[in-house]
Order: sequence, then C-alpha cells, then structure tokens
Amino acid sequence: MDLDSVSQPFAFCDIGLSASPISFMDQNRNQTEIELKEGVPISLIFGDVYFSKEGGWEESKYVFLEGNRIPDFLTSGSKNHYKIGELGFGTGLNFFVTLAFWYNLPNPPPIHFYSLEGFPLPIEILQSLNLSFPGKPLWTENLLKGYQKTFDQWIKNPLDRIWKTETLHPLSQSKFTLEVLFGDVSECLDYFPSIDFWYLDGFSPKKNPMMWSEETLSKIKTHSQVGTRLATFTAAGFIRRTLEGLGFMIQKQKGFGKKREMITGVFL
Ligand SMILES: C[S@@+](CC[C@H](N)C(=O)[O-])C[C@H]1O[C@@H](n2cnc3c(N)ncnc32)[C@H](O)[C@@H]1O
Repeated sequence: MDLDSVSQPFAFCDIGLSASPISFMDQNRNQTEIELKEGVPISLIFGDVYFSKEGGWEESKYVFLEGNRIPDFLTSGSKNHYKIGELGFGTGLNFFVTLAFWYNLPNPPPIHFYSLEGFPLPIEILQSLNLSFPGKPLWTENLLKGYQKTFDQWIKNPLDRIWKTETLHPLSQSKFTLEVLFGDVSECLDYFPSIDFWYLDGFSPKKNPMMWSEETLSKIKTHSQVGTRLATFTAAGFIRRTLEGLGFMIQKQKGFGKKREMITGVFL
C-alpha cells in the first residue's frame, strides 16, 4: 500500500463537546520544555525523542500499525468499527500514519482513534513534523486551529480538555474520528472505552516510568477485551512480565531497523 499517494490534506471537522467531568489536574503540567534537534523534537523533561527523523514514518507504521496487524484486520471485514487507543499523542505522527493507511483503503471500516497527552506540544513544534516528513499528509491549518482551541480552553479550565474531530473517507463515507484528551495518563485513561488496538508510545520505560506503571498497565487491561492487541517499541523485561501477568500473551518481535526487539501482545 503506497501511503505517499495521499497528496491532498485531510478535511477535518471539529465536533462540539461540553466540558467533561474529569477530575482536576496539576496546571504545571502545561509547562512543556522542548528542544528541536535537526527537526526532531526532544523532551527536556524526559530526555527522549518524539520520533526518529530517519525512517520515523516507516518506524511508526512498522511498530504500531503492522505490530498490531491493523492492515489485516481493516481488510478482513471481521468487525465493522475499530477503536485505537494511544498513550502519548505527542506530534500526532502515529495518528497521521494510521489515517493515511486507512484513507488509501477502498472501503475501510470506521476508526475512532483515542489518544491522551499530558504535555501538549505548542503548534510551532507540531509544524516541525511537516518539515521532517515533506510530502506526507500531516498538520493542516484547520487541524492546528482545533488543537490550539482545545489547548487554550484547557489552560483556562482543566476539565475542558477534549479535542474531537473527524474526517470522511472519500469513497466509502466511513468516518475516522480523532479524540485527544489533554491531561495525565492517570486521569485520562479512565475515560477511554474498550480498545481494539493499543499504541503504547510513552517514551522509554526507564525515562518515563509513570507511563508504564502497574497502575497504567492495569488500566490498559481494564479497557481491553478478549482479542485486544497491543504494540510497543520497548521490549523491557518488566513490561513484558507485567503485561503477561495481566492476561496478555506477549511476543517478542524484531524491532524496526537496527533495533533488536519490540513487543506485541493479545489479550486472552
Ligand atoms: C514518544 S512521545 C509520543 C510520540 C507520539 N505518539 C507521536 O506520534 O509523536 C510520548 C508522549 O507521552 C507524553 N507523556 C509522557 N508522560 C505522560 C503522562 N504521565 N501523561 C500523559 N502524557 C504523557 C509526552 O508528553 C509525549 O508526548
């Protein structure tokens, strides 16, 4: 499937929402310290990169889309609606990679892509994604506007933090919905529905243990059903063991490029 063939920017339309009844969060979370190195954002809080410039698009496709076997499921006709859950929206790269794949299918089922983000990036940094991957369908002005509007609301009122927007498939009129919750993982995950495919992308477990805590992984289980799949770039032993203890069958796979290993799993 040639993902480069989407040349037109996606036409998204924001969906109005009332403030959600989510508990209060620490306003200091709004302070995000980021450095751009050769076009790649680096979090100074976590000392980790958001994506690798060399092959970042392909890596996201390999680890999350293919790691979850999403291409097989979307073309199998076995289910008429899929929910993806992501930990760490970041620059939105995983979302755009998934959207581009879906867009190129002739008759894909609707997808609802849930994500959460505790340190929303400023839009100048989001725009760096477009410079890092020229020719790919990424941030449009319209999408940036919707994101910025939610960010501004969230700064004023931490309960007002859901950005929900959707686009229609050009042939099938099927919908791709994006729903991002701004806030800490410990609060936002509770509001996810039962998910079909997890993208566990919250920086490395050593640098960001909160995203990989037992509490977080137990919530992943709570919001999974039999057959729910997960994929992540890490193969850390304690993550594997915790997920297995929670009922996921975990497999080690070859990592992307020079990376030795990654893991995927399915809830039994
Ligand atoms: C590797 S980046 C995600 C990259 C992203 N998926 C992309 O496509 O650009 C990890 C993300 O997790 C977020 N994050 C880290 N700790 C968090 C927490 N405790 N709660 C919510 N988000 C968190 C970071 O701000 C960062 O955006």
